[in-house]
Parts: sequence; C-alpha cells; structure tokens
Amino acid sequence: MATSLVVGAPSIGMLTAAGAAVSSLAVVRSCCVTNKTSSDSSSSSSSSSSSLPAPRGDFFLPPSLTYLNCATLGPTPRSVIKQVTAEWEALAADPLNGYFGSGNAGLPSSCTRNEAVRTATAEFLGADVREIVVVPSTTVAYNTLAEGMVAAGYLTPNDVVLSCDHEHPGGESAWLHLEATAQVASYQRVILPCGGRDPTAAQIISAFEASWSPAVRVVAVSHVLTTTGLVLL
Ligand SMILES: Cc1ncc(COP(=O)(O)O)c(C=O)c1O
Repeated sequence: MATSLVVGAPSIGMLTAAGAAVSSLAVVRSCCVTNKTSSDSSSSSSSSSSSLPAPRGDFFLPPSLTYLNCATLGPTPRSVIKQVTAEWEALAADPLNGYFGSGNAGLPSSCTRNEAVRTATAEFLGADVREIVVVPSTTVAYNTLAEGMVAAGYLTPNDVVLSCDHEHPGGESAWLHLEATAQVASYQRVILPCGGRDPTAAQIISAFEASWSPAVRVVAVSHVLTTTGLVLL
C-alpha cells in the first residue's frame, strides 16, 4: 500500500506521491521586507520580483512594525491590493463575460488568466500544470487534500496520519477533524528530538521510523517548521 507525503508551507501546500499538488496564491506574494525607503526603490508601489527583498515602501507596514508572517495574515503588497481592487471593479462591470467569456476591460477572461497563473506556478515549482490547483490558503489546501483523500477512498477509518510535534495549526486541523469524525483511525505527532538545537536528518528519520506501522497512509509535514524555521524537506 502506498503512503502519501503531504508537504505544507505557509505559502504552499504540495501533495506528492499521490500525483497532485496544491499551492496557494500566497506563493506569488513573497514578501521579504527591508528597511529601504521608497526613494531607494524605483517605485514605492511596485518592485520587480527579481529585486527581493522588497523595499518596505512596497507595503503598508509602519516603520515601527517588524512583521514576519507571510501566510494568509501576511502583509499584502501595495501593488497587489491595487491590482486586486482593479480586478474586482472590472469583474463587477460584466461578471459573466469577465470571468468565463471574452473578458472585459481589455483583458482576457479570469479563467484564461487563472490558467496563466497555474502555468507560471508549475514552472516555478518544476511541476506539471495538471498538478497545480490555486486555492486561497495553505489551510484550505490541507483541508481540500484531506477531504479529497477520504472522498476518493484513499484514506479509510483504519488508516493513520503521521506528522510531528512542531506543526502549525493550519497543517493539523484537517487531520484532527478526520480523526474526530472517525474518518481515520488516528492523527499522530512524532516527537522531533530538538532539545534546543536542530535535529539531524538521521534523527528525524529514525523518529518517524519508530512511529511507523503498516496503517500509516499519509505523512504530512511542513517544508519549513513554524516553530524553529528548520527546513524539513
Ligand atoms: C507551517 C505553516 N503551515 C500552515 C500555515 C497556515 O497558512 P495559511 O494562513 O496560508 O492557511 C502557516 C502560517 O503561518 C505556517 O507557518
């Protein structure tokens, strides 16, 4: 029986081994902020992605605030707010055509441009475009995957989902829900041997091996741990 590896991150969730990937829009919202002022940058409202870290002037954050979260509650860049507002206005002018049809405001339809985002994301990740689904957040991605695995019969009430004791609640809630509703046998947290320093790859693998059983159907871990920043994969 195959086991799936689900890898999540604040900006991206990816399912491998079961042949699908889910990413969130936040992947295109990379936002390393520096204290450069807007005058240091060619524009305060748009910096090219090739010039990351982005100047502080690209964001609404006050200079006194150092903000490290880049997930759903990350600071949206000014240029994104401007573009999203313009998109809503254009869509409101002719919703059906704007979304499915010939487009409006001089732009192709939303569906056409959504496909362009999927293609660009697939290229960025080195994935097939058929493996990319754009969703609003990592937490939504996890829930979509978990519910989809149950609906497809991939996960059954006898199966175990393994993760670790450093997961973000957004990476846990879907599995905890499946456990609470008896759609899987259990959701188990492998204890990582951190002890004040990063565990080695061998230590991490042996911690997972110690919890291994034939009932393990999914291993779900974050690419970057929310607690320590350790890169797991
Ligand atoms: C490791 C990890 N997983 C999941 C999430 C939740 O992400 P989202 O807000 O996109 O649902 C976060 C948020 O910071 C995170 O750090």
